[in-house]
Amino acid sequence: MASADTLTTPPGSLDAFWMPFTPNRKFKQAPRLIVGSEGLHYDLADGRRVLDAIAGLWCVNAGHRNPRVSAAMKAQIDVLDYASNFQIGHPAAFTLAQRLTQMAPAGMDHVFFTNSGSESVDTALKIAVAYHRARGDAGRYRLIGRERSYHGVGFGGISVGGIGRQRSTFGPLLNGVDHLPHTLDLARNAFSRGEPAHGIDKADALEALVALHDASTIAAVIVEPVAGSTGVLPPPRGYLKRLREICDRHGILLIFDEVITGFGRVGSNFASDLFGVTPDLITTAKGLTNGAVPMGAVLMRGAVHDAFMHGSVSAVELSHGYTYSGHPLACAAAMATLDAYTEDGLIARAAELSPYFEDGLHSLRGLPGVIDVRNVGLLAGIELQGWASGLGTHAQAVAQHCLDESGVLVRSVGDTIALSPPFTLERRHIDQIIDSLRAAIAQTAQATDTAA
Ligand SMILES: Cc1ncc(COP(=O)(O)O)c(C=O)c1O
Repeated sequence: MASADTLTTPPGSLDAFWMPFTPNRKFKQAPRLIVGSEGLHYDLADGRRVLDAIAGLWCVNAGHRNPRVSAAMKAQIDVLDYASNFQIGHPAAFTLAQRLTQMAPAGMDHVFFTNSGSESVDTALKIAVAYHRARGDAGRYRLIGRERSYHGVGFGGISVGGIGRQRSTFGPLLNGVDHLPHTLDLARNAFSRGEPAHGIDKADALEALVALHDASTIAAVIVEPVAGSTGVLPPPRGYLKRLREICDRHGILLIFDEVITGFGRVGSNFASDLFGVTPDLITTAKGLTNGAVPMGAVLMRGAVHDAFMHGSVSAVELSHGYTYSGHPLACAAAMATLDAYTEDGLIARAAELSPYFEDGLHSLRGLPGVIDVRNVGLLAGIELQGWASGLGTHAQAVAQHCLDESGVLVRSVGDTIALSPPFTLERRHIDQIIDSLRAAIAQTAQATDTAA
């Protein structure tokens, strides 16, 4: 384990940085710093090289320091560093937008650039509300999210999000938000492969919300097709289709948050493709630039975009945007990343590896404390029985064991171990991840659960 002495940071420098989503005081007692990366691996400050089984933070889909991406970014920075896209522009943003529409499900033919998943979510929510207003339907302002969902950290995102602690900490949030029930059903669906069989009826809760609030007040529904950060929850069979039908029946926009599932994570370009359901808007980020530089994008159907293209041609159609929307460096990284996905066949590779990954994961069934395994594409969650010492302590112990004893970086989200490896991995790496988890689960089962 790295100690403060082995860090390549100046003494005392750990204090100033308030780390996001981190128990800062605990981390700084025994910091673990990453100092390099290559392909599937990270180099740690203590000299160890570890296998990155989570692609950074669900984002480095094409492998670390992907040569295409690095080369494109280096070339770009010597040509154009920054150009605004407010009332002037630069070609790469237009080219990238067009390229994204070609890759997206049919009909998603316009793109609004952001810099993160959170910004994509807030942008999509604002576009949804403004869309109805642009059509003379200003009474539609309500936004429907779902329990156990994560939509980033903007006030819009946490309002529609379904994680109690992230909401209660920050006050009254947005008005007019309601939530669908989550779809996790361990009693009926544990150890499903891909979409679980039971739970389509959970979509009918949207009809109940329509009855409660009246459709004429509801602007949009937002869901992650596969919830990621709350434990990897694939949708029950038929669930997304039913949501689509109910939205259509009542004139409600459907938003898929594909910040994790977009760009091949589930073995197809988007989860919308895999599940055969096209929403009205798709939020993306992460895999768009392979994590090499921040960027997000909201993709939308022509009808959503076109609703704004009325009135004076001199008027700004949407009063929204970011200084760095469509930043040249991010555009260069994204173009090269999309090349890696398509020309290097990485999304096809993710799909090909999925059955082997799935078999490996489900071989963990029966180990002590493993209460569910959920997976789709190269995305998986292994849920562990919680320990009395607190939410997440069991999964944290397993993750720590994987890192310390076998050099594999996995992520704990609550009491679930999340996996989302880069698509460039090989079967032997899948074996390494599964072996590491098997040993960690067996070992921690014997430990007392007082470690937290
Ligand atoms: C589904 C989903 N939406 C939004 C976000 C927020 O993205 P960011 O951290 O880039 O703001 C995330 C991040 O994990 C996510 O998983």
